[in-house]
Amino acid sequence: MAMRYYIETFGCQMNDLDSEKMAGNLQHGGMEPADDPSNADLVILNTCAVREKAVQKVYARLGELKRLKARKPELLVGVVGCMAQLEAERIFKKAPYLGILAGPQKGHVLSELVTRNRTTQTAAVDLRRDDDPEPLETPYILRSSPWRASVTISEGCDRQCAYCVVPLTRGKERVRESAAIIKEIESLAAGGCIEILLLGQTVNSYRDRTAGNLTFAGLLERISKIDGLKRIRFMSPHPRDFSDELLEVMVSCPQVCNHIHLPVQSGSDRILRAMRRGYTRGHYLDTIRKIRNAPGDISISTDIIVGYPGESAEDFQSTLSLLDEVQYDSAFSFKYSPRPDTAALGLHDEVPEEEKSRRLEILQERQKRIQSGKNAEYLGRTVEVLVEDRARSRVRLAGRMRNNRIVNFDGPEDLIGRIVQAEITGFSPNSLKGIWIRPETDGEVHPVPDLAGCTASTN
Ligand code: SAH
Ligand code: SF4
Ligand code: F3S
Repeated sequence: MAMRYYIETFGCQMNDLDSEKMAGNLQHGGMEPADDPSNADLVILNTCAVREKAVQKVYARLGELKRLKARKPELLVGVVGCMAQLEAERIFKKAPYLGILAGPQKGHVLSELVTRNRTTQTAAVDLRRDDDPEPLETPYILRSSPWRASVTISEGCDRQCAYCVVPLTRGKERVRESAAIIKEIESLAAGGCIEILLLGQTVNSYRDRTAGNLTFAGLLERISKIDGLKRIRFMSPHPRDFSDELLEVMVSCPQVCNHIHLPVQSGSDRILRAMRRGYTRGHYLDTIRKIRNAPGDISISTDIIVGYPGESAEDFQSTLSLLDEVQYDSAFSFKYSPRPDTAALGLHDEVPEEEKSRRLEILQERQKRIQSGKNAEYLGRTVEVLVEDRARSRVRLAGRMRNNRIVNFDGPEDLIGRIVQAEITGFSPNSLKGIWIRPETDGEVHPVPDLAGCTASTN
């Protein structure tokens, strides 16, 4: 009987895609998916190390898997991804029963590692970093959706933000050749894919030297010409690499969604300098102004860290005032988490944990109010929604507008993967609720029961 695998994914969209690459590799090697870890012969944890909380989740899971392994000694457990790259020793200490340990971007060798473990009866470890671009070409990807797909355009990061482990886990930036990227997306689109998410740690620093120094904006423009694509998104651009050319392409190519995630991290110049972000508040705000003044009503979201070492009450106020000034459409905010081997780790002046929590709460409250105000503007409007999933709340479906707003509404599940119209009837800080406008009844609206209490996805 074929070996059955189960992959659990932690972390960012790049990890989601890496898990699809691993599944592709394992299935090509003859394995089959299991529907639950307890039915699997191989359990892989694809991990994240960006904050200590993410790491703790994995250790908790390893504790549970230890019990499963005790009941089922032949179970093979693997830890792969960013955390494996960063703290292999600590992982082995806590989980000596591991059979596989490998860094990120190892999907293409996973079957080999399984075989190596089986033949040697010892842990198969691969922490080599592939600094040549070739491994970014992945022959087998088991896509979890027929209508949307993530596509790596670059991997790794050449920036050195003082708090961040990503350059240590994913290594130096490597870019894929544009010809390979375009070929992959053409084949996805031919197979019915309508939404593409382009991924890279600093996605807009992309340059293809094999294609006349093609920029990220140039690549986007080429991708937007591919037949069948309805929505193109990208994550995450870095403010330093945001160009006028990129804004022009966002405005002029209708397939490129009118949303940009532009992580700011802090509103204080002093803290931005300490973080080594490479821009000032003024420079960042100039970019925001350009985006706001451009046609197409582009939504802007961001990432923020509170409680960075040395962040004074005044620095924190600068971040709050930045929120007021920018009026973000959404924001992900985090308490600073000291990470191993980063420059910020050696800094004194830690902000006490309770103070970090207090600041985070204040910031999230402020941002919630901003988002509610912005979402209220959609009441009564008819919007275009790409239906993505069953909703977590009482309403049955969840989809996204082009500007990345989540819309929850009632409708049949066969709408998933389709673009529909919805009339907005309610809102929360994180999402809109609406009613689906059935096309066959020519715009007639079918009311559903009161949807109050429908909560939004987490930030
Ligand atoms: N490449 C992206 C972000 C990658 S990590 C960029 O540069 O924008 C995603 C987010 O996690 C970051 O934007 C930052 O807000 C947060 N983050 C990274 N390291 C962190 C740390 N040590 N503590 C708290 N948050 C962190
Ligand atoms: Fe980390 Fe900074 Fe690179 Fe983003 S740009 S991945 S925050 S080092
Ligand atoms: Fe986490 Fe690695 Fe992504 S540290 S955020 S899984 S790049």
